[in-house]
Amino acid sequence: TRFWIVIPAAGVGKRMGADVPKQYLEVAGKPVLQHTVERLLAVHRVSAVMVALGADDEFWPELPCSREPRVLTATGGKERADSVLNALCALSAHAADDDWVLVHDAARACITPADVERLMEILEDHPVGGILALPVTDTLKEVENGTIKGSPDRSRIWRALTPQMFRYRALKEALESAAKGGLAVTDEASALELAGQSPRVVEGRSDNIKITRPEDLPLAAFYLERQCFE
Ligand code: CTP
Ligand code: MG
Repeated sequence: TRFWIVIPAAGVGKRMGADVPKQYLEVAGKPVLQHTVERLLAVHRVSAVMVALGADDEFWPELPCSREPRVLTATGGKERADSVLNALCALSAHAADDDWVLVHDAARACITPADVERLMEILEDHPVGGILALPVTDTLKEVENGTIKGSPDRSRIWRALTPQMFRYRALKEALESAAKGGLAVTDEASALELAGQSPRVVEGRSDNIKITRPEDLPLAAFYLERQCFE
């Protein structure tokens, strides 16, 4: 079985509010997406990286990684799940049913190759697959109209990160059936859960942040620079 990467990179970055999509903002000397692709290509067992791009993306060809032989592209869709599904369709000529696909957000540029390798090693013999995730550290509150209704048991709650690693065919079918059922899924694991599967969690790192708002940029720059010395 081979390992493929899918990077949804077709978002507009509304919460960032910049004049270019956030994956093209420069952080620590390079565009966010260049960092992300480089770090995934550094994982030697990856056969290829399939990047889902916005239909009118004029920035991608400027990135050095766009000319790498192990990098392929597809056109994204309306929601993140549509972009992932389009990328999986574009992979159909290459991937076998049981091959592994790791879906990783373009906006998570601080991913470390070592973390990706650890996810692969831990899950490679698992029937379903799983995701990088982190136990929450804050106390959580369930709120209705500004009033606290309860405090869910924190010891059972994890935050979902990416990569999320599943078998090619199982992932494609789960996303297709969620889309057909009109069910909004914000990550791959939820699609597999809806299909009755039980994915694993593998503990990730707290510096694997999703660059979302302007204040995330200096933090990402700090992590990216610091990781170079690990
Ligand atoms: N994404 C995508 N296709 C979409 C929407 C999002 O490929 N239709 C990608 C984004 O490019 C990003 C990842 O999915 O790498 C996670 O989404 P998010 O952080 O929400 O990015 P945006 O949707 O661009 O940001 P915002 O929600 O603030 O507009
Ligand atoms: Mg979004």
